[in-house]
Amino acid sequence: MTVCSAPGKVYLFGEHAVVYGEPAVPTAIERRATVTAEPRDDDHVRVEATDLSLDGFTVEYTGGTGDRPDVDVPTPLVEAAMGYVDAAVRQARAAADAPAAGFDITIESEIPLGAGLGSSAAVVVAGIDAATRALGKPLDRREIADRAYRAEFEVQDGQASRADTFCSTMGGAVRVEGDDCEPMDAPNLPFVIGFDGGAGNTGELVAGVRELKSTYRFADDTVAAIGDIVRTGEGLLGEAVPEADANRELLVELGELMDFNHGLLAALGVSARSLDAMVWAAREAGAHGAKLTGAGGGGCIVALDPTGEVETALSYTQGCEDAFQASLATEGVRVEEP
Ligand code: PMV
Repeated sequence: MTVCSAPGKVYLFGEHAVVYGEPAVPTAIERRATVTAEPRDDDHVRVEATDLSLDGFTVEYTGGTGDRPDVDVPTPLVEAAMGYVDAAVRQARAAADAPAAGFDITIESEIPLGAGLGSSAAVVVAGIDAATRALGKPLDRREIADRAYRAEFEVQDGQASRADTFCSTMGGAVRVEGDDCEPMDAPNLPFVIGFDGGAGNTGELVAGVRELKSTYRFADDTVAAIGDIVRTGEGLLGEAVPEADANRELLVELGELMDFNHGLLAALGVSARSLDAMVWAAREAGAHGAKLTGAGGGGCIVALDPTGEVETALSYTQGCEDAFQASLATEGVRVEEP
């Protein structure tokens, strides 16, 4: 039995603009998905999943996701679990040259599904690492990240950047620009996350921004302006002492850039009333800055606050279902004790 875990992520800066070749800086957070893989004697895959957003279910299938099992949980969750696990298993089988390998897979996740925190990427990354190790063919990190990206790309019909999977694999802060992905030095940042209990539709939101860009010049300029914010932000991170706690001055400067970034995302039409309400509640409670994270439309915001006050304020904010602090996860995918 092999157990691996991988972290979720927030975008410090740059979502959406990254789709058009601008850089983005996602950072891993200490909320992890843990995947256990136990090889079987046959070619079946049995998946048992529990996460924050569901009570848990078990499915067993023999091949592709065509024959959907009859289980009593909401369809999108089963599809999500099966689609991503299936793609991860396919990648692990190909990497280990074991096309008929079967597994019992257990997933436990602390990351809400589809809410901009990279839950699917964490499951795919931990799944590929656990399954290849269970087959005696461990992969290096770059290959895990690449295979996880291919798995997400397949499940999401090509609507995937390398940001989530690379960040979850490497941990810490990373810089993504097209296919170019590199880890970055970064100090520990005091993230506070607000979750509205919902999720945005990444495909639709990305398509909406594309449409806006093809209609209005301002949308092109907005995407370019987000790129400028990312470049300024990475310059600030580069000057900080890696892995020490970020100092107040740095937090003030990063927070200001996060506020600008949120405003520009709102101009692109990807914010939502619930996200704006949480962003403003966080700012009014003293956050250095706050923005939506991920595709938007619903899901999560991320704020910078070392005091704990923003978490309390968010937990009393209408429309905020969950608020929690999350430090930067310096470790990406890793092996856990069974
Ligand atoms: O909501 P998430 O975590 O899937 O992030 C989507 C980020 C986008 O930039 C909007 C799309 C992408 O694939 O980079």
